Amino acid sequence: MMSWVAIKVRAIISSISARKILDSRANPTVEVDVVAEDEVGTKVGFGRAAAPSGASKGRHEVTALPKGGVDGAVEGVKRVVAPRLVGMEVTDQKRIDALLRKLDGTPDLSRIGGNAAVAVSMAVAKAASAALNLPLYKYLGGEQATKLPYPLGNVLGGGAHAGRMAPDIQEFLVIPTDAGRFVDAAFANSQVHRRVRALIEAKDGTFTGGKGDEGAWAPNLGNVEALELVARACEEISEEMGFKIRPGLDFAASGLYDSGKKKYVYKREGAARDTGEQIDFVLELIETYEPFYVEDPLREDDFESFAEITKKAKRCLICGDDLFVTNVARIRKGIKLGAANAVLIKPNQIGTLSDTHVAVQLARQHGYVPVMSHRSGETSDETIAHLAVGFECPIIKTGVVGGERVAKLNELIRIEEELGEQARMGELPWK
Ligand code: PGA
Ligand code: ZN
Repeated sequence: MMSWVAIKVRAIISSISARKILDSRANPTVEVDVVAEDEVGTKVGFGRAAAPSGASKGRHEVTALPKGGVDGAVEGVKRVVAPRLVGMEVTDQKRIDALLRKLDGTPDLSRIGGNAAVAVSMAVAKAASAALNLPLYKYLGGEQATKLPYPLGNVLGGGAHAGRMAPDIQEFLVIPTDAGRFVDAAFANSQVHRRVRALIEAKDGTFTGGKGDEGAWAPNLGNVEALELVARACEEISEEMGFKIRPGLDFAASGLYDSGKKKYVYKREGAARDTGEQIDFVLELIETYEPFYVEDPLREDDFESFAEITKKAKRCLICGDDLFVTNVARIRKGIKLGAANAVLIKPNQIGTLSDTHVAVQLARQHGYVPVMSHRSGETSDETIAHLAVGFECPIIKTGVVGGERVAKLNELIRIEEELGEQARMGELPWK
């Protein structure tokens, strides 16, 4: 399916530069520029990409930053990576990604850092697509890349992304599973976001309009109360829009788990649940509120309980984020055990575009839904919009509001327009 491994043009990487920029939390992150030239030295391609960063990272992700933090990562690109990549064919993505791993030399990419690696890898692909005069999604997916993902966005949140009075559950999400066009789906989510604010205000006159890291409202509400409110907002806006919008959840349960007590601790609620109780709690919420999507309902190493919940949950995507960390070995283990039925895909969890692609393919081959995803710390980099279309992910998780989130949504609106009559929405299960 991939065309980018087969395409050969004489476009050679002539320079790679890196710098420190601000992300959406105003933390430093790495941005990389790649320039490609033809044989006579004419510039034929330019690619720029920036790495995102997580706040509730999985324990098994590659190391985001090397010693020296972002400055160390920038230095690593300049001193270790650039000298070796300059002169290579810019379309030689697989070889370049393999070389990045080799230059790093550690299993967890800790020498150059996953964030530097992913920024280089994505910038190389962008420069290659520019050299071929193709949009990135077509360079990656070929002519058959015509399917738009459904946007899954965070409208209310807590956990590691918001203050202490917000819910314990990290994300209350929405997804318009019946929208006919991406643009309508994106605006439907924004309507739900707006309605959620109105419903919070009706409940709590002291609500200040505070938001968490991804632009989701961060109210002083309990977990069930919050889900009830989001489900209601979904119903109301579904009726107005004329298509179904469903709620979703990301428990980010590793962040709730106290390994000493062996319990999931809901501080705000004053509750602590052992694994069995956690499974029952999640299944009860699924039964009552019929979310379409539930991410990380259990801690990151409990594949067996993931399998149990996946078996028992009816018509609900159970997605592994910290569980799989976009890592092929962990996804394989999940498949073997029947743990989850969807895989969150975060390129910087694994470090290169090639590894990301292999993870998506493995998931799809086994009927697991690949969900392309942003991180809580983002930039205006829109690469994941192209990855979702190019790699045929039927869902993209990228927030609802905020410049760094809408950068991806707006790029998908442009892609949908460019595809014109060819454009279709991706395929979701149970429709
Ligand atoms: P992050 O997590 O803060 O590590 O990006 C977001 C998520 O759990 O999906
Ligand atoms: Zn998550």
